[in-house]
Amino acid sequence: MTNNSNHDTTKKGAHANESFRFAQLSDPHLSHLKNASALELFNKRILGYLSWLKRRRNSHKREIAEIAIAQLKQQQIDHYVVTGDLTHIGLEDEFKQVASWLEQISSADNVTVIPGNHDLYVNTRWEHSFHHWQPYMLGDDMTEPGEALEQDALNTLNNVYPHVRIRGPVAFISLSSVFAAPWFRATGKISSAQISKLKILLKDPKLASLCKVLLIHHPVSKHHVKARKELINQEELIDALIDTPVELILHGHAHSRFHDRLQIDEERSIPVVGAASCSSVSQAQPYRAQYLVFEVRQSDKQWHLSYQDFAYDAKQGLFVNSKRTAL
Ligand SMILES: [Fe+2]
Ligand SMILES: [Fe+2]
Repeated sequence: MTNNSNHDTTKKGAHANESFRFAQLSDPHLSHLKNASALELFNKRILGYLSWLKRRRNSHKREIAEIAIAQLKQQQIDHYVVTGDLTHIGLEDEFKQVASWLEQISSADNVTVIPGNHDLYVNTRWEHSFHHWQPYMLGDDMTEPGEALEQDALNTLNNVYPHVRIRGPVAFISLSSVFAAPWFRATGKISSAQISKLKILLKDPKLASLCKVLLIHHPVSKHHVKARKELINQEELIDALIDTPVELILHGHAHSRFHDRLQIDEERSIPVVGAASCSSVSQAQPYRAQYLVFEVRQSDKQWHLSYQDFAYDAKQGLFVNSKRTAL
C-alpha cells in the first residue's frame, strides 16, 4: 500500500498479505513566541513563556521536524499520527505557525492530530486555537465539532473526542487527555463523558474486524512520568478497555522513547509505545528526536504489529533507523 491522498481508497478493509504502514510524530513544539504580547501572557502562560525563553526555544528546532517529514515522504507511509504538544503555550499565532507544518506532511485525511497539554495551556476559544487545525482533528463521521464556535476549546475537545478514523485495516481511536491543569502542573485527565463514549465506541461492530490503535497524549503507564505530569485517571481508561481491548496504545508527552505493556487484568496486556519529540536537539538517548514507522499485517485472523525507531543523528543531519521491533 502506498501513501495515498485519496481518502476513499485508504479506507478499504484489511489486506491479508499486505502491510499497512503508519508513522507517529510527537511533541514537535514547533512554534516560536516572538510575537507574544504582554496581555496574552497575563495568566499561567507566563510560566511557559519563561520556560521557552530560558530553555525550550533552544531545545526544539523546526528544521529537525522538517527533516523528519522529508524522510517520511520517501517511505511509503499510508497514514500519519501526531500525538500532541505541537505548540508551547497554545497562542493563536502558534496554531497558525503549526498549520503550515501540518500541510507539509499531507492533507488532513492522511494526518490525525490529537491535542497535548501545551496546546491548551490555558482554556481559550476554539476559534482562536484548534479551529486552525480542525480538519486534522475530526473523526470520520464529523464535518464540524458540534457547537464549537459557541463553546470554549476545552468543552469542544471533550465534544470532539473520542473519535475514530478508519484507514486501511486500522481504526485510529483518538482521545483528548488535556484539561485546564493548575499552575505548575502538566497533568492529564480524560473527561468522564469521553470515558463513557469510549466504552460504547469500542463495541461498535464496524471496528470488530479492524486493528484498533488508541492515541492519547499522556502516558498511560503508572510512574512513567512524575506525578505533576501524569494521567490522573489512568484506572478509568483501563476499566474502559477491559471488555474490548485495543491492539496498541500510542502516546507522547514524556519526550523520551518508551515501549512497555499495559496490564489490563491478570492475563491480558496491551503494547504501549511512547514517542520522543520529533524536533529535539538532544543527542542523548532516549531523548533524541524520533519518528516511528509502524507496520500492521494480518494473517490467520491475527494482527502482527511492529515498528522501527528513526533517531536523529545531528552529525549526519538525518534520522537513522533501528532494527524492526515486534509488538
Ligand atoms: Fe511535550
Ligand atoms: Fe505534553
